[in-house]
Amino acid sequence: MTNRKPRVLVTREVFDETLDYLRQHCEVLANQDDVPYAPDALAAKLADCEGLMCCLTDRVDAALLAAVPQLKVVANIAVGYNNIDVPACTARGVMATNTPGVLDDSTADLAWTLMLGTARRLPEVERRIRAGEWTGWRLKQWLGVDVHHATLGIVGMGRIGQAIARRAAGFDMKVIYHNRNRIAPELERKANATYVSFDDLLAQADFIVLQVPYSPQTHHLIGAPQLAKMKPTAILINSTRGGVVDDAALIGALKNGMIRGAGLDVFENEPKLNPGFLELDNVVLAPHIGSSTEATRKAMAMLAAQNLVAALRGEAPPNLLNPEARSRR
Ligand code: DGY
Repeated sequence: MTNRKPRVLVTREVFDETLDYLRQHCEVLANQDDVPYAPDALAAKLADCEGLMCCLTDRVDAALLAAVPQLKVVANIAVGYNNIDVPACTARGVMATNTPGVLDDSTADLAWTLMLGTARRLPEVERRIRAGEWTGWRLKQWLGVDVHHATLGIVGMGRIGQAIARRAAGFDMKVIYHNRNRIAPELERKANATYVSFDDLLAQADFIVLQVPYSPQTHHLIGAPQLAKMKPTAILINSTRGGVVDDAALIGALKNGMIRGAGLDVFENEPKLNPGFLELDNVVLAPHIGSSTEATRKAMAMLAAQNLVAALRGEAPPNLLNPEARSRR
């Protein structure tokens, strides 16, 4: 039995306050250079660590877990955790945690930023004004569409979906949603949202916002058949995860006018972008910044650190994804 502090690896740059907190409880190997580790390097760095604080750019799979049997906890700085093989963690008694709650409002704000920006063509007109193309006011100039009084369809009505819905009240929108399970009547009332089938949502919504987690079940949830069911005036917003949308199919639909536009914060194979997006004016592109405000990213990193420390102290971390893992140790 050694009384050294537990050793933890932090795979990407974090805030000083996050490191200060971690250092009170742990010996910290930090990667403030922020260069992502390749899988072999990650396993090597983790060789004598009990804790891992990681991000969605790190893959925690069965092979990595097999290489580091002393690992006790994986704390993701994200609410989404499709980068972590949770069943493989559970099988090895490794606790896995995420950061729900603290990013709901910032992510909902970004979904709205994309909705408004796409509807009013803001990035396109900004590019044009900088290029000197604005020669004066004209009645039919760069016409957009109204967000107010339109129908908002939300696919995935968890906390973030509900936060997006609540914001729609200020725009007098009709809100419809689809979710694996219908949410409680009280939550529906707060969100002022009506449950509809997936197909009805695709057919009725003027703005479709995707907020489902990525999984094999949601892979290409929106592909050519679903795009064909949308209104030709529909605007699609993906602020959740790349892979939920078939990017090639979306580019086809945007090119041939099957839908009006799209606002995207996430992409298949990001940060590589399908070059087709770059040729289009009716798509607004953002670099996975849904939760990226200073306050929210600080809160996410601190919550991940608290999860990590609690687990290493033998306590149940606040955001434990696999409670069964604790009994396996
Ligand atoms: C999340 O928390 O899943 C976000 O995508 C990370 O910014």
